Amino acid sequence: MKLNIALLAGDGIGPEVIDQAVKVSNAIAKKFNHEINWTPALTGAAAIDAVGEPYPDETHAICEAADAVLFGAIGHPRFDNDPSAKVRPEQGLLKMRQKLGLFANVRPTFTFPSLIDKSPLKRERIEGTDLIILRELTGGIYFGERGRKDNGDTAFDTCTYTRAEVQRLAKKGFELAMTRSKKLCCVDKANVLESSRLWRETVQAMEKEYPEVEVSYEFVDAVAMRLVQWPNSYDVMITENLFGDILTDEASVISGSMGLMPSASVGEKAKLYEPIHGSYPQAAGKDIANPLATVLSAAMLFEDFKLVDEAQAIRDVVNKSLAEGIVTEDLSEGGKAYKTSEVGDWLAENI
Ligand code: IPM
Ligand code: MN
Repeated sequence: MKLNIALLAGDGIGPEVIDQAVKVSNAIAKKFNHEINWTPALTGAAAIDAVGEPYPDETHAICEAADAVLFGAIGHPRFDNDPSAKVRPEQGLLKMRQKLGLFANVRPTFTFPSLIDKSPLKRERIEGTDLIILRELTGGIYFGERGRKDNGDTAFDTCTYTRAEVQRLAKKGFELAMTRSKKLCCVDKANVLESSRLWRETVQAMEKEYPEVEVSYEFVDAVAMRLVQWPNSYDVMITENLFGDILTDEASVISGSMGLMPSASVGEKAKLYEPIHGSYPQAAGKDIANPLATVLSAAMLFEDFKLVDEAQAIRDVVNKSLAEGIVTEDLSEGGKAYKTSEVGDWLAENI
């Protein structure tokens, strides 16, 4: 197969972890006889510095023309500490999601047998955890009306959803549930929020189209608690943008390191793959960041193109590296800490 992939390294550790995913993907292409053409493009603070805008039109054109996008991370501390900054790297990410129509964000949480005791949660609580949070990504409070009034003393952000937006996300949730254990949990705050009541009523109306799927409805606060008590009781979860943002960070620690969990963002056409961690500026340029979340994001990419053996080969080599202790400092616990680039080289050689 021939794949054209847009490569958006972004900021902080983005370029370093992206390099490793490229090495591993190229090794896969070689082994399985595929051709990958990588087209780099600017995004985030790097793009602001170069052209004054975090998601330039040229980058959008490259992403639209590609079969998929592999994305590193976005964000820079010089913007976090300046609330008056007019242009922010994160705006680039949001613009990209919106312009590419990436309305569904697939964020899995699973455990690695060799890392189970690295989790802050007890082994018996997390063993067998294998869940997917399907986060709505182009609606809700992230994109609602916002502003200031009363001379700037009052600020507001509004959460708006249409039935159609809920339906298209929920459809993906039902379909995903059908390929797994047929359990779907709709996470909302329908006891308080009108937008959540629309979510619940819309999902309830869709239940009859998927009679085999067992649907539950839970409030987001209760889910936040149960997710760390009994994560292995969940399978596919669907939720709105902000709830999904918060719950997926919470869920990511279950596996033992934030540097491990991949994600996919998909829409009608575009597909984007990225680690769920951020740009980790403290580690930028030091060759110490964990590249596995990005490498596993590349595995999700292959899988979405029905290259199942290729995806499995990546997961197998990642498991092997963990079992053999070829890990970066976040997982080395006093043992040898490998560099980001050394882990990438090892993975590529062992494909
Ligand atoms: C994420 C990030 C982004 C989000 C930020 C960087 C805008 O936290 O991908 O989860 O909030 O969606
Ligand atoms: Mn987030």
